[in-house]
Amino acid sequence: MKASIFHAVGEKLTVEDVELDGPRAGEIRLRVQASGLCHSDYHLIAGDNATTTPAVLGHEAAGIVEAVGDGVFGIAVGDRVATSFSAFCGECAQCQTGFNYRCDAKPTGMAREAGSRITWKRRPVYQLAGIGGFAEAVVAHQRSVVKIPEGVPAECAALMGCAVQTGVGAALYGGRVQAGSTVVVIGCGGVGLNVVQGARIAGAAVIIAIDVSAAKLAAARKFGATDTVLGGPDAVAEVLEISGGGVDTAFEVIGLPATLLQAFKMLRKGGTAVLVGMPRTGAEVALPMASLMFNEVRVVGSLMGSSPFQILLPKLARLYRDGKLMLDELVSDRISLGEINEGYARMIKGETRRNVVVF
Ligand SMILES: NC(=O)c1ccc[n+]([C@@H]2O[C@H](COP(=O)([O-])OP(=O)(O)OC[C@H]3O[C@@H](n4cnc5c(N)ncnc54)[C@H](O)[C@@H]3O)[C@@H](O)[C@H]2O)c1
Ligand SMILES: [Zn+2]
Ligand SMILES: [Zn+2]
Repeated sequence: MKASIFHAVGEKLTVEDVELDGPRAGEIRLRVQASGLCHSDYHLIAGDNATTTPAVLGHEAAGIVEAVGDGVFGIAVGDRVATSFSAFCGECAQCQTGFNYRCDAKPTGMAREAGSRITWKRRPVYQLAGIGGFAEAVVAHQRSVVKIPEGVPAECAALMGCAVQTGVGAALYGGRVQAGSTVVVIGCGGVGLNVVQGARIAGAAVIIAIDVSAAKLAAARKFGATDTVLGGPDAVAEVLEISGGGVDTAFEVIGLPATLLQAFKMLRKGGTAVLVGMPRTGAEVALPMASLMFNEVRVVGSLMGSSPFQILLPKLARLYRDGKLMLDELVSDRISLGEINEGYARMIKGETRRNVVVF
């Protein structure tokens, strides 16, 4: 089968013929129909965070199950599924207490050895997140996928596996946005637009979208933003003005220390700053300690929507079918496996909402 291979920082991804093994016990093989380009993969391409190479990147995929291994339950050949970054072991303390999206075992490779199902020129190839969605087919653990109900197109289902889950979940669960509250979202890419619509679904009264791209601000209005501010040094003052002294919840959805500090400075007393953006390895931010104490503000992180994906995705599908969740509008470019480099170049320029590889 064909897969897009990441070789090294600074090199272009190339499409290669690779061998796919499995599914072994507990695994499924998925014929990929659509696979989204998330900025988290780009952090690896750019060298912000390290990964094993060669690798098949991509973790936001959807398709049809074409084989299941021994012991797979609840998923059958022909089912439509989406993948999630949040593979979980089911046995660690986090999994046992309802937080399987922050599973302790996953970082060490969880239920399957990294790279064991794809080989290229007889060498093992690492599958990002145990998925490797930039390929015609994927062999993944059954705890990496969830069935998608009828009525959700494959491109939309793919995006639900990361951008939508992460963004909407950050608003509903990570930041617990309240009806009638004030919210700011800094960075309105594929994930940030979903924080915006998550805040709208939660009933926020004021949703201020911030981005350096005017096109993103226009998109954010469609997704539910009530106000927009161009990103830059004046953004904090503008948000304090619009919100009448600070917002209840401020989301950082880029991964930069400077914009996390801005989110912190945009809070009213008692407010919460939520970090959704993925920081470069080792990044730190210095916070004014007096505000933390005197203003009783909080700073929290939100991982993969702060919610188990196998519970959240079916909810998202219902919201989509009820016309409350915008998914079709997220897709800006449909590209081929060979166009991923160009797709990421456009993402970095701030030109795309979400690029999706379609097969
Ligand atoms: N927390 C999680 O579990 C999780 C999950 C998925 C993605 N992420 C991370 O979320 C972040 C966003 O991902 P994405 O796919 O939406 O990326 P994206 O590239 O589509 O969006 C980033 C947006 O930020 C804007 N931007 C860049 N610099 C800015 C600045 N200084 N001020 C204001 N706006 C600015 C860009 O114009 C763009 O619209 C990434 O860091 C990604 O790795 C985190
Ligand atoms: Zn992602
Ligand atoms: Zn676990």
